[in-house]
Amino acid sequence: MMYSDKVWDHFSNPRNVGEIADADGVGEVGNATCGDIMKIYLKIEKDVITDVKFKTFGCGAAIATSSMATEMIKGKPVSEALKLTNKAVVEALDGLPPVKVHCSVLAEQAIKHALADYYRRNGIDPTPFVGELPDAEACHVH
Ligand code: FES
Repeated sequence: MMYSDKVWDHFSNPRNVGEIADADGVGEVGNATCGDIMKIYLKIEKDVITDVKFKTFGCGAAIATSSMATEMIKGKPVSEALKLTNKAVVEALDGLPPVKVHCSVLAEQAIKHALADYYRRNGIDPTPFVGELPDAEACHVH
């Protein structure tokens, strides 16, 4: 199985690891098959993601994609973060072995859940922005 230099780099030296105590949005998702869990914390000011941290209890590909995904949304408007796809994250990492592509879905979903949480905290229904997401506790990526 081959991993790109970028995957190794983000796995060995992940960016934005940690928690944000006063986060404006938090999202957690799990992969029911492998049991890996990812949690994303967002700090949002005037609709711009000013800070982002993550914690991933999971495989190397999940850690590398979390790291890259946080780098891709940091400093960006919420509208851009909503458009982030796991495909874009995989491309930014110069690819993942096909059997590991599902791991990258965790990052996209965790960000969407964190953004949905942000909307809810502001009294806004997130559905028009993030689409239908399963209940936070029940959300598992298959
Ligand atoms: Fe579980 Fe990669 S094997 S996310």
